[in-house]
Amino acid sequence: MAPIPKRGTVAVTGAAGFLGGWVVRGLLDKGYRVRACVRNAEDLTRTGFLQAMPGFASGRLTLHSADLDQGGAFDEIFKGCHGVTHISHVTNYDDAAYVSRVCDHIIASVNGSGSVSRVVVTSSIAAIISEADIQEVARRPVFYEDRYPDEMSPKRTPERGQGYSIGKLIAERTFAEAAQLSGAWDAITCCPGDNVGPIQSAHQKDMGPWQHLIELMLKGELVQTGAYRPWMTVDVRDDAEAHIRLLESASVANGQRYIAWSTDARNVEDICADIDRLLPELRHDTPAVTDPFPDRIKAREAELRAIWAGADLRNDRIRAVTGMSFRPLDQSIRDCVEALLSVAKVEVKRRAP
Ligand SMILES: NC(=O)c1ccc[n+]([C@@H]2O[C@H](COP(=O)([O-])OP(=O)(O)OC[C@H]3O[C@@H](n4cnc5c(N)ncnc54)[C@H](OP(=O)(O)O)[C@@H]3O)[C@@H](O)[C@H]2O)c1
Repeated sequence: MAPIPKRGTVAVTGAAGFLGGWVVRGLLDKGYRVRACVRNAEDLTRTGFLQAMPGFASGRLTLHSADLDQGGAFDEIFKGCHGVTHISHVTNYDDAAYVSRVCDHIIASVNGSGSVSRVVVTSSIAAIISEADIQEVARRPVFYEDRYPDEMSPKRTPERGQGYSIGKLIAERTFAEAAQLSGAWDAITCCPGDNVGPIQSAHQKDMGPWQHLIELMLKGELVQTGAYRPWMTVDVRDDAEAHIRLLESASVANGQRYIAWSTDARNVEDICADIDRLLPELRHDTPAVTDPFPDRIKAREAELRAIWAGADLRNDRIRAVTGMSFRPLDQSIRDCVEALLSVAKVEVKRRAP
């Protein structure tokens, strides 16, 4: 199907979120008309930053209240749109039937729009790398678009923390199948890495989870990341740019997935130490790491770190179709910290002068 036309109209779900907010800003900067979908447009703590964007004053940006859980909520919003970036979270990833149902809500609104030619669906690297058995990472350490988690593993259940990865794969496939059936639009999947970068609104400091973990570091709390996995990052602004370029690309086809990450990987304790390295003026009192895992996981720390160190992160495919490059992680950390201080007024635990 067709990429969206220049200066066309794009609906963004999850527009008040960390990533969605940057997609809205990026689309406006490039001259598009944007319909920002939020659950409650009246809630200024979440939508004030959207209403402060210059495009809102002119009417090029409009805000719409719509809850994914309500069938038909997006029908009127999508009419006349050329593209949709479906970024929002869902209420519960652990319930497969619910995840399918809310995908169907969006799909019905796209089908009924009579105008949408492309939907970019936000998945996650969890739909690529999240393994119930870590040995699967050792066996298949190249992280690229054709890699899927071992879906036959009996341990791959929501009860064992795999609901998010399962739900994202349900969404990827549901959208691709529906688009093929319709013949009128295509669905392209974007699988972002761990988003780091500046928040635009104070409420986003509690989301993420990555910017929230940096907020905790600033306040003096450093928690080890699950299974000692290093952060595998993308700057949130680059992630937004990737979504927009996938809407625009003439080189992508229905059902394809693209990973958006810089291929930088860094351990959480190094990220925390980076705050002082990058911003020594802050006098950040770098906290010691807290390891919340049970003893059986702690005993495997060296083994788990070695497995992750063998991972080979690729982003060749998205760079080839979009021509984009990615910011270095240092810049994302610096800008994340500065935005947490300036936008959310986070108080830093400082060492003595
Ligand atoms: N952050 C990351 O590192 C990361 C990594 C990989 C993938 N992703 C994916 O990227 C997307 C955005 O992530 P994010 O970090 O920007 O999340 P976020 O800041 O938590 O924003 C998500 C938004 O989803 C909306 N939402 C939740 N339930 C909804 C529902 N039932 N109906 C309508 N909207 C609903 C919320 O809208 P309201 O504010 O209007 O209530 C919220 O603003 C997600 O799909 C996530 O899985 C994120």
